[in-house]
Amino acid sequence: MKHMKKTFLLLASALMAVSATAESKIIPIETENVGLVYSVGDNGRLYQRYFGKKLANAEEYAKLPQGIEAYLTHGMEDYFEPALHINHADGNQSTLLKYVDSSTTTNTDGSVSTVISLVDPAYNDEVKMHFTAYPDCDVITTYTEITNNEKKPIELEKYASSLLTFNAPAYYLTQYDGDWANEANLKEQKLEFGKKQLDTNLGSRHNMFLAQFFQLSIGAPAQENSGEVLAGNLGWTGNYRYTFEVDREGKLRVISGINPYNSEYTIAKGETFTTPEFYFTLSQEGKGGASRNFHDWARQYKVKDGMGDRMTLLNNWEATYFDFDEAKLIQLCKDAKTLGVDMFLLDDGWFANKYPRNSDTAGLGDWGENVEKLPNGFYPVIEEAKKQGVKFGLWIEPEMVNPKSELYETHKDWVITLPNRDEYYFRNQLVLDLSNPKVQDYVFSVLDDLKTKYPEIAFFKWDCNSPITNIYSPYEKNQKHLYVDYVKGLYNVLERVKAKYPELAIMMCAGGSGRGDYKGLEYFTEFWASDNTDPIERLFIQWGFSQIFPSKTICAHVTSWNRDASIKFKTDVAMMGKLGFDINLHELSENDLRYAQQAVREYNRLKPAILEGDQYRLVSPYDGNHTSTMYVTKDKSKAVVFAFDVYPRYNEKMYNVKMSGLDANKMYNVKEINRYDCNDQNVGQYSGNYLMTVGLPMFTGNKLHSRIYEVSAN
Ligand code: DGJ
Repeated sequence: MKHMKKTFLLLASALMAVSATAESKIIPIETENVGLVYSVGDNGRLYQRYFGKKLANAEEYAKLPQGIEAYLTHGMEDYFEPALHINHADGNQSTLLKYVDSSTTTNTDGSVSTVISLVDPAYNDEVKMHFTAYPDCDVITTYTEITNNEKKPIELEKYASSLLTFNAPAYYLTQYDGDWANEANLKEQKLEFGKKQLDTNLGSRHNMFLAQFFQLSIGAPAQENSGEVLAGNLGWTGNYRYTFEVDREGKLRVISGINPYNSEYTIAKGETFTTPEFYFTLSQEGKGGASRNFHDWARQYKVKDGMGDRMTLLNNWEATYFDFDEAKLIQLCKDAKTLGVDMFLLDDGWFANKYPRNSDTAGLGDWGENVEKLPNGFYPVIEEAKKQGVKFGLWIEPEMVNPKSELYETHKDWVITLPNRDEYYFRNQLVLDLSNPKVQDYVFSVLDDLKTKYPEIAFFKWDCNSPITNIYSPYEKNQKHLYVDYVKGLYNVLERVKAKYPELAIMMCAGGSGRGDYKGLEYFTEFWASDNTDPIERLFIQWGFSQIFPSKTICAHVTSWNRDASIKFKTDVAMMGKLGFDINLHELSENDLRYAQQAVREYNRLKPAILEGDQYRLVSPYDGNHTSTMYVTKDKSKAVVFAFDVYPRYNEKMYNVKMSGLDANKMYNVKEINRYDCNDQNVGQYSGNYLMTVGLPMFTGNKLHSRIYEVSAN
């Protein structure tokens, strides 16, 4: 009897030990509403057990089936696209990863980081999967570290940042493709068996044909306000690839990372390769919810000066192009003051002497002020800006060189170009080799020298017009590293800029939105969404970028594009982003100018809603001839609704616009503001419930017509 009792106790404690181990090997990564759960199988390998709406009772994750291997490796039993492919020192191409341990820490900003370590028992190579969960905005960020513990170098052929798997009846992918001046066109498709890849190979930037974010709707086509939607963005300002692969059981794997195209990366013994981060959110409130999650996270945690104010500006690019002198610039400072904006931004064309920058064919690389245009440097312009009480901002494109430049003549060895073939020019220029630390120093010095000479420069527009073509680095020992090292070199430079000038506002620009990703936005306060500033096109382009970027990061300028559209229509569109003007003020009528001045004042007054509030896309421009978007302050006390009629049809039936995000129980006063006649018009008093259930008639049959409504809680 005594013996039996002892055996039972031993058995019970063994069982307890087993269940304790199994339990401790369930690794939940959770935000307020999202659960991403990993667990260790009996074979010691790591599996993604769950990804979806967080379960109320975390213990129930254990009841779920094991799922798909968490970080699929090449060469083992799985038939599908791997996340990791290592060519080992001995020529073996297979990797098998076993769980070692995991740890979780709470960071000072409230986010929670989890690290899961895996190792290949045959080679000792280590993989660490890092996750940071931002509970309050349902965003999770993830990246991977791969360490070579072999005796010789290993080659990483594929090295994804993230692998997420789904098991649902259907998947719908939304991509945002286009071209220069035609960015971010929304297109949705159902994913069927097989692979769909979204990727680019532009080297120095990621977009020209495809914005670097996507949405994936689980189960049904994506809706604005309902349904489960994954939104993702890779933090990498270069070649990227998202692979969506549906298998024969209908399961979907989503692999995100640097595009492995021509980028096999060799790491020495003891070295660690760190992938870029993949940022994602899983919303149960459709695309709108996913956008608001990203907007909140971006402002709070990610974007340079994310919680800070943004400067309105007057830019001279479309008003003067390369044709200006000191007198014109001084006048532009006065114009900025007249308009009421915060800053005058001087664009391209101010530099180079041996080969003056009077067109885009010469001068890039020679960053001295052009003595013809600026005989006294920027001093008189800065003086005038000070006198007018406006800031001064400056355009640079420091990563590029024109063959007609002194830099090219003295430093051909700094240029990415094929040594034994004719040069190919994109916009008459070539890309500097940022894999070379000397080039990094030089690129940093372009901004640093200007800032040292003119500490008053309050803003830079950092452009990058050429992708990498005819790829060859005079510096790299392994040419396959260039795509990756270019971007790493860029980040080295930007780290230095940020460390030395933490307060400096900088616009990320790349011939339109060639650059627009959340890693870039660690260093930049905003980005240029498109060279196309036709307000109709902008309604679509801004709709696209608003899917994951908050309004304060999307630069939107009023220009002379589309002569049919009124200054009001153009300005109302630009007011949904970071407002700027790129027009010749002297071509405006008195009334147009008066309206524009009012718009700047109203924009400044409404910034707490437009820049800091929650965005609700109410009516899509893709659905017809009208569109509407609104912004609501966090305390729901104030909202601004923008409504646009583009090209309404004759006798078209018009419907009310139903608002969102208000407090149903509050009473609101609604008035139409920012009218061309500068007289606000009262619309009435309504409950939040009425405005969200019945809505108001905001659309008209007039073409290129716009209205802005201010909604204020009583
Ligand atoms: C491309 C940018 O997108 C434009 O806004 C302008 O800055 C030009 N470059 C200047 O060359």
